[in-house]
Amino acid sequence: MLYFDGHLVEPEQARIDPRDRGFLLGDGLFETMRAERGRVPFLDRHLDRLEASAAILGIPLPQPRAALAAACLEVLQANGLTNCIAAVRLTLSRGPGPRGLAPPPEPEPTLLITVAAIAEGPPAPARAVISSIRRNEHSPLSRIKSLNYLDAVLALREARERGADDAILCNTAGRLACASAANLFLVRDGVLLTPSLGEGVLPGITRGLILELASELGSSAEENAIPPSALERAEEVFLTSSLIGVRPLVAADGHPVGRGALGPLTERLGEAYRERLLRS
Ligand SMILES: Cc1ncc(COP(=O)(O)O)c(C=O)c1O
Repeated sequence: MLYFDGHLVEPEQARIDPRDRGFLLGDGLFETMRAERGRVPFLDRHLDRLEASAAILGIPLPQPRAALAAACLEVLQANGLTNCIAAVRLTLSRGPGPRGLAPPPEPEPTLLITVAAIAEGPPAPARAVISSIRRNEHSPLSRIKSLNYLDAVLALREARERGADDAILCNTAGRLACASAANLFLVRDGVLLTPSLGEGVLPGITRGLILELASELGSSAEENAIPPSALERAEEVFLTSSLIGVRPLVAADGHPVGRGALGPLTERLGEAYRERLLRS
C-alpha cells in the first residue's frame, strides 16, 4: 500500500497525471527517512527541511505537518513494517501544469508516500572513487532534495562501473562536496571536518546531528572548504545519511583512508548517533 493524494491505495490504483511537472520537469522534492519499528526518528527535522525546501520552490504543502507525520506512520502500519527497519520516502511534486516551464499560478501538488523494508545492522565500510561529475554549489538545487537526482544517479553508476561502492563529488571549484546521497566527514589531527553548506552540500539531518554530537562529546568540528588532497591525509573519513547512519569510508580512489578500517572517532560518533536515534 502507498499513500497517494490523501488516501492509502494499492500501487496499481495510484495514477500520476501525464501533465505532472514532477514527472515532466523534475519539479518537486522528496524526503527519505528511516523508520525504526514503526517510529520515524527526527521526523520533525525532516518536516522542517521539507517545509523550507518547498518554500524555496514555491510549492505549497498539501497537508499540515501533523497530517504528513500521521500519513508516514499509517503507510508503515498498512504494510506491516512496524517491527523492522524501513525506508520512508515522501515525494511532493508541483502537480499538473500547462505545457511549458512556467509554473501554474495555483498549483495542486501531488503527494506520494512509499515504504520499503531495509537491512538491519551497521552499514558495511565503503570504498569510494572521486567522480568526474561536479556538484553545482551555485545552484539552489544542491541544498534541497529536489526531484533532479540525475547527477547523483550518474555518479553512482560511474562509481559502480569502477568497482567502488559510492562516489565522492567535488563542487565546480574542485573542492570536496559530498557522496552520491550522503554527507562527507573527515578527521584530521583529531579534528572533525565537513564541507560547509556553501560548498554545494545538502543540509543533511544526520550531518546536523553529528555536528551537535561532536560538540556534546567535546570534539572540535569545523565546517570548511576542503580540497580533495585532504582525503589522503585524513585519519578517518565517514559518510552520513538518514538511511545509513554513520558509514566508515575506508578507501578513496583506490588508496586506503587512514588505517583502512573503522576509526575511533567514527565509531564513537556512530554509537552516539545510534543512542540519540533510539532516544528520539
Ligand atoms: C546529496 C545528499 N547529501 C546528503 C544526504 C544525507 O541527508 P540526510 O542525513 O538528511 O539523510 C543525502 C540523503 O539522501 C543526499 O542525497
